[in-house]
Amino acid sequence: IVRHSGSFLLGHESGHSIARPAACGGRVPPQRTVLGETSAVPMHREGAIMKKKILVVGGGGREHAIIKALKKSPDCGEIWCAPGNGGISYDAKCKNIKSTDVDTMVGFAVEEKFDYVVVAQDDPLALGMVDALAAVGIPAFGPDKAAARIEASKVFSKDLMKKYGIPTAKYETFDDPAKVMEYIKAEGKYPVVIKADGLALGKGVLICENEQQAADGVKEIMLDKKFGASGNHVVVEEFLTGPEVSVLSFTDGKVVKPMVSSMDHKRANDHDTGLNTGGMGTVAPNPYYTPAVAERCMQEIFLPTVAAMQAEGCPFKGCLYFGLMLTPDGPKVIEYNCRFGDPETQVVLPLLESDLLKIMAACTEGTLADTEVKFSEGAACCVILASGGYPVSYEKGKPISGLTNGQLEGESSITVYHSGTALREDGTLVTNGGRVLGVTATADTLPEALKKAYAATESIHFDKLHKRSDIGARALAAMQ
Ligand code: AMP
Ligand code: GLY
Repeated sequence: IVRHSGSFLLGHESGHSIARPAACGGRVPPQRTVLGETSAVPMHREGAIMKKKILVVGGGGREHAIIKALKKSPDCGEIWCAPGNGGISYDAKCKNIKSTDVDTMVGFAVEEKFDYVVVAQDDPLALGMVDALAAVGIPAFGPDKAAARIEASKVFSKDLMKKYGIPTAKYETFDDPAKVMEYIKAEGKYPVVIKADGLALGKGVLICENEQQAADGVKEIMLDKKFGASGNHVVVEEFLTGPEVSVLSFTDGKVVKPMVSSMDHKRANDHDTGLNTGGMGTVAPNPYYTPAVAERCMQEIFLPTVAAMQAEGCPFKGCLYFGLMLTPDGPKVIEYNCRFGDPETQVVLPLLESDLLKIMAACTEGTLADTEVKFSEGAACCVILASGGYPVSYEKGKPISGLTNGQLEGESSITVYHSGTALREDGTLVTNGGRVLGVTATADTLPEALKKAYAATESIHFDKLHKRSDIGARALAAMQ
């Protein structure tokens, strides 16, 4: 059974996506070698002609999931990751270049003659890595610098939504701290949400319960510059309520094809308590995202956003991530990201049945309308194993036991994605970050996927390991 993402063109629906048997996804049709004659080229020859040498920029669980999915493509040749990490090095050659060092990365891409680069992280996208690669003739997956503003500047994205009537929280933008407090006091509505304009590792969002907290928040962001220059401008917005849904989508700037929906768990501890993190676990699909909600999001949010970016002269090509809240007044955009989510990718890509490399190339080349994007009907759950103390302070270098070449042996429906691991010279795998591993299980149903993922986590150990025990609990409750 397959779940079609549908194929949606701006302004009108193109109908159903073209369904081809999945097994044919990567096959090349018989080549016309001699005029008037058709001969089937043997598979290995096809491979030799098609295979691309690929570089993935980044070094966490998301990049690991992208690499594992790309490797399923018959067109995928040698694959590299920069900087990568210890666990990723089981799947790709790793080169230690900082993902924000655009010049060195582009120089490396030229030197190694990569055919295609996947820029997976927000910072290099915001710095214009895709533009820099294009300038040296290397095609890349991801938005250019102008389109990456949809995530890199909250002022840009909020103004875009206002101009094009895309539903989002009511807001004002400010660059003067005194004016912010004047506005918040005049509105007198709490909680109030204050957001730093720029990238802040998902931490530049403050939810303030009263005037004092708001004043402290404004001071932190705008005066103490806790999030650096990203706090020069702030967005103050109304507090929304409702279940949150993440929808990642592929777009070539004209057509948008959503992926299977997912649900993140951002807080560090059970029952959504503790500090905000990069994400402690995910499930897909998200049961709140019914077909009716999906259709409404397509018409009111996805298509208008892609059209708005085109109208602004900065068409978005790559993975456009819609962070949505299903409010009593309908779905609204909480945030856009200009890239795959982490750890959403670790549950979404394992359910992709189509060829990721073909889809990515179609986004770059503007041929997404003719490209199949198909997901399985199954479910997936990813449980993050973190270092105790994350997201504040934690130790690194703890040996990890239970894995063979980075994976659990004999578990074909379980994949361990490496977020923060390193390989010592003696081959010992050790912890090397706040989020360490993402244990993903796929199954026919969500309850099965949850059970399998949690059972698998019991086989993996390191000192001071911390995980949430309630990933997916809210999704299960919603299904009841
Ligand atoms: P963001 O980094 O923009 O995704 O914000 C982080 C989290 O803060 C979101 O996942 C929401 O849970 C919460 N949040 C952001 N904006 C709002 C809002 N306007 N109302 C309620 N919660 C919000
Ligand atoms: N998991 C949320 C994000 O990637 O921004």
